[in-house]
Amino acid sequence: MINVGIIGFGTVGTGTAKILIKNRSVIKERTGIDIHLKKIADLDIKKDRGIKLRQGVLTTDACALINDRAIDIVVELIGGTTIAKDMVLMALKAGKHVVTANKALLATHGSEIFRTAAKNRVRVGFEAAVAGGIPIIKVVREGLVANRIKAIYGIVNGTTNYILTKMTDEKAEFADVLKEAQKLGYAEADPTYDVEGIDSGHKLAILATLAYGSSFSIRDVHIEGISKILPMDIEFARELGYKLKLLAIAKETGGKVELRVHPTMVPEEYLISKVDGVYNAVYVEGDAVGSTLYYGRGAGDLPTGSAVVSDIVDIARGIVSGSAEQFYSGSVSPKPKSLMKMDEVISMYYFRFSALDQPGVLSTISGILGKYDISIISVIQKGRQLGKAVPLVVLTHLARERDVAAALREINRLPVVAGKTVCIRVEGLHAA
Ligand code: HSE
Repeated sequence: MINVGIIGFGTVGTGTAKILIKNRSVIKERTGIDIHLKKIADLDIKKDRGIKLRQGVLTTDACALINDRAIDIVVELIGGTTIAKDMVLMALKAGKHVVTANKALLATHGSEIFRTAAKNRVRVGFEAAVAGGIPIIKVVREGLVANRIKAIYGIVNGTTNYILTKMTDEKAEFADVLKEAQKLGYAEADPTYDVEGIDSGHKLAILATLAYGSSFSIRDVHIEGISKILPMDIEFARELGYKLKLLAIAKETGGKVELRVHPTMVPEEYLISKVDGVYNAVYVEGDAVGSTLYYGRGAGDLPTGSAVVSDIVDIARGIVSGSAEQFYSGSVSPKPKSLMKMDEVISMYYFRFSALDQPGVLSTISGILGKYDISIISVIQKGRQLGKAVPLVVLTHLARERDVAAALREINRLPVVAGKTVCIRVEGLHAA
């Protein structure tokens, strides 16, 4: 029998406990291993979570749980990067295998945690840290291990995907939809982590570390959120044949890795454009396998609990076969890949200028774009308000980020441009 202790009895803790209890016999039939939920630690052990536990399972003493000699695997589900970090390090040093869903912790202190695990010859499982119930960690680490990973494009935050879907379908404003998303319980404790792209950035750093064998952290990811997106830009995107998604993108070009999270226009016929609501999807392109796509629920008690329990079973299998201590989950290549600077990144772009509706303005703007080697694919101008500002939308071919920044600086200073230009990156082949 393998004994498990959970620290943190919130949404994911409850889902994990439910699965361990309800599916104990299924897991035993499938693996031959009896996994026993021995303890759950939380500060609040009074609240009814709709789950029946034996007397003595609940405790407020997380340290005693970690030091319980009978417990083989400690599951950290408290979140955050302070107490959670202390608990995880304490468990690893006590020789316990650790399972965590904590993306912020791994994307911030991953190196220290994996070093400590290796030193103590124990494993860290973190399937639940990226895209909840989708087994994407296993995909990148095991299923696609034979490939050089050319690119990863992920919708890895359910809250922002829900907000963008509602803004698209109902032409609703960002702030109104955010309130609804929070009520549904998918958002992080601090929803700015969701809407400003930080949660997606954490997840991207973890995926890129596995895909490229270099230890990437949240500090390596260029991050922009969705809080400034207007329904107007979603509508223009639709007219141009695109959907707006918050994408987490990792690409390797010429030995350099670019890591970025930002609102992105994606051709509406792409499968990833059809991923709506709180669903997540991750597209991974390998040099041998080609294009692959993984889809499912990225948040919530049972989907995330499903991923947590898969790690518990994996580690339990290793313990039973005697191989658990021979490998840990964060191996990093001796030849780390370097990071591409954001200003070297190449992309297509959508610009929305607030331009005065008067003769010559378009040619002035396109002249500046041309000077910086930015070539136009299409232009839309709506409305007719002589002498007043109207939206002027431009879609470009591939251009370099540095040139785009310089061109927009110059354009934003023009007397015929009334406000800061909206700039959204565009992905997809058909305009390349
Ligand atoms: N806040 C996250 C989301 C939860 O909205 O996807 C899962 O990490």
